[in-house]
Amino acid sequence: MTDNTILLGGNGTRQIVLNAGMANRHGLITGATGTGKTVTLQVLAESFSRLGVPVFTADVKGDLSGVAGAGKAHPKIDERLQYIAIDDHPFEGSPAVFWDVFGEKGHAVRTTVSEMGPTLLSNLLELNGTQEGVMQVAFSVADDEGLLLLDLKDLRAMLNWVADNSKDLERDYGRIARASVTAILRRLLILEEAGGDVFFGEPAIRVEHLMQNDFSGRGVISILDATTLYHSPRIYATFLLWLLSELMEELPERGDADLPRLVFFFDEAHLLFDNAPKALLQKITQVVRLIRSKGVGVFFVTQYPNDVPDEVIGQLGNRIQHALRAFTPRDRKALRAAAETFRENPAFDTETVIGELGVGEALISTLDAKGIPSIVERTLMAPPRSQFGPLDAQRRKTLVDRSPLKAAYDLTVDRDSAYEMLAKREAELAEQRQREAAAAEQAAAAEKQRKAAERPSPRGRRQSVGEAMAKSVARTIGSTLGRQIIRGILGSIIGRK
Ligand SMILES: Nc1ncnc2c1ncn2[C@@H]1O[C@H](COP(=O)(O)OP(=O)(O)OP(=O)(O)O)[C@@H](O)[C@H]1O
Ligand SMILES: [Mg+2]
Repeated sequence: MTDNTILLGGNGTRQIVLNAGMANRHGLITGATGTGKTVTLQVLAESFSRLGVPVFTADVKGDLSGVAGAGKAHPKIDERLQYIAIDDHPFEGSPAVFWDVFGEKGHAVRTTVSEMGPTLLSNLLELNGTQEGVMQVAFSVADDEGLLLLDLKDLRAMLNWVADNSKDLERDYGRIARASVTAILRRLLILEEAGGDVFFGEPAIRVEHLMQNDFSGRGVISILDATTLYHSPRIYATFLLWLLSELMEELPERGDADLPRLVFFFDEAHLLFDNAPKALLQKITQVVRLIRSKGVGVFFVTQYPNDVPDEVIGQLGNRIQHALRAFTPRDRKALRAAAETFRENPAFDTETVIGELGVGEALISTLDAKGIPSIVERTLMAPPRSQFGPLDAQRRKTLVDRSPLKAAYDLTVDRDSAYEMLAKREAELAEQRQREAAAAEQAAAAEKQRKAAERPSPRGRRQSVGEAMAKSVARTIGSTLGRQIIRGILGSIIGRK
């Protein structure tokens, strides 16, 4: 076995491994409930960590937190180890950082409305095409002026401003119906009532904090507690998608490498694709494809392989299929579809075996060093070195309290102090802004004079709309006026002009 392989399990004759260098060709973990998906994810996460690769994963049931605690010996574990021929299996936990959008079971993870952008926000709010158009306009106006929207309050102010000034904006941005704005405002209210505003605010999470190694060189496993968040599936899925797009946009391109830079596990991935409009699906597919060259591996975890659209499935090179039970016609269809995605093994019938697999057993096909999928192997999965089930609350709290990231994110727990901080920053900026505004006004006046002397220019009007906007919105929202914002594929901020 070479250094960069991950031991997945054994087939009775030999060990089955995952080539970690191929992890950026992504993966799929599927299987019915209780068949071993989470434990497989746990084994992968701790193995990547040992190889020095940081991991990000959502924890939907809370049981994944066990990856931070050491496992215990058990006769059943011994049986597995013996079958797979593993002789070195120290029970140990992996370095972990806990995150929680509610700031209770981990560091508060947040982002700003501006960072999330119009596309994902529209998806979050389940807007129709017309409403999304208006949302795009609101962001365009803000982006053109470099205006940052921190939370939903800012967005509301921005939308109201757009509605109030729709006549002036129409020429540059197209028609804006008041009814659409009203509809969006209503959806915002619903989102807030569902607790969807929790992750909007500052300080926004920094991608580099998800890509850390501890002092022994192990990759740190970032665990996002989703036990509560998961009850709002749309918010959960949009948030993870945003994080993925953020990684894609922020990380530099990278040539071939021995190991991925980060591995991202998307649990309950069907939520990402359920009811996703076609345009969004296309963008998701694009992000999954492009993130590969940034050295990030994405593993989707879900019950049925056909939960994931074909365009995406085609990009998932490493497959781990746990048991599926064929009770209903839907099950049988899923089972057949699952079987068809594998390169057949002459030793057995794939479809039959998927139905027969025991708990902690799987059908596996991984990419070899050339990127070719191996023929499917029936595999008894390796046990984790860490513990089954959730880490106990006290131990978890200790880890969160000791975390070096605490200082950077804890002030978000007290939103008031975050506001104070902003207010202070604003006060400092206000003075500067006033000076700039005065200068701009002077320049504009001079320009107007000059233009009046020449002939009226079509650009003149746009200038005055922009300026009026800058002044009146800045007054309402009171956020930073900077350079024009540029957005990426899924609308997250990628730079400033
Ligand atoms: N690789 C393994 N080694 C030893 N035991 C395992 C392994 N995989 C699964 N098990 C056993 O099976 C149980 C259920 O596995 P797991 O929690 O991973 O299922 P799951 O597919 O995630 O279920 P759900 O869909 O309900 O979340 C585990 O608690 C453990 O006891
Ligand atoms: Mg599970």
